[in-house]
Amino acid sequence: MKQVLIYKRFERFWHWSQAALIMFLALTGFEVHGSINVFGFEKAVHYHRFASYGLLLLIAFAIFWHLTTGEWRQYIPTFKNLKVQFQYYISGIFKNEKHPSHKTELSKLNPLQRIVYFGFKIVLIPLVVITGILYLNYKTIDANNIIVISELSLDLIAILHTMGAFLLISFLVVHIYMTTTGSTPTSNIKAMLTGYEEIEEKIENKAEDKNEK
Ligand code: HEM
Repeated sequence: MKQVLIYKRFERFWHWSQAALIMFLALTGFEVHGSINVFGFEKAVHYHRFASYGLLLLIAFAIFWHLTTGEWRQYIPTFKNLKVQFQYYISGIFKNEKHPSHKTELSKLNPLQRIVYFGFKIVLIPLVVITGILYLNYKTIDANNIIVISELSLDLIAILHTMGAFLLISFLVVHIYMTTTGSTPTSNIKAMLTGYEEIEEKIENKAEDKNEK
């Protein structure tokens, strides 16, 4: 076994700050929605707006980092071994079968994670962020009379934004469960905290060989 750096420093910072911001936005957002009462409506609106600026800034840095490091390639979906991976999660894992995919520095996501995270980045986050920005600027946009937006009602924007919020929370629940399915229940979380994970040397070498070819 060999300790391999799987998650780089920025990646860990981005992951945990995104997680914290999304949870805080869910807390304050559902207070705005009227489902809970924690800070009081006005403070919740204020905090929600403030945190949303933080998330937008973080997303801008994350896009830059993914593009400049080439890490975006990790998320290109693949159908190869997808069925096997899916079967592992619904059945093999409960029979103590071996993991069908092996994490390496060059390919840290299994086929199912690739598809799910791709959808998360391309559909789910944009849904919440775009509707959030429309919500944020609705009055301004309305006053400026921009035609595209004036055809969207605030009700529709709010419904889509809330739907995105529910989907994000569902993602979070499944995601947290999935973190426990690594080589040990805490190995994935440890890797995202320290950056390092123990990986079989043979697998790591094979991946490096493939890359050289
Ligand atoms: C960049 C990201 C986001 C922006 C710009 C944004 C913006 C907004 C705005 C402007 C509102 C209306 C309240 C107000 O006037 O401040 C709102 C409401 C809300 N937000 Fe967000 N938000 C974002 C992300 C999120 C996230 C990540 C969640 C949950 C996980 C969330 C959940 C909600 C909910 C549930 C409401 C209440 C909707 C309603 O019932 O009208 N938001 N958001």
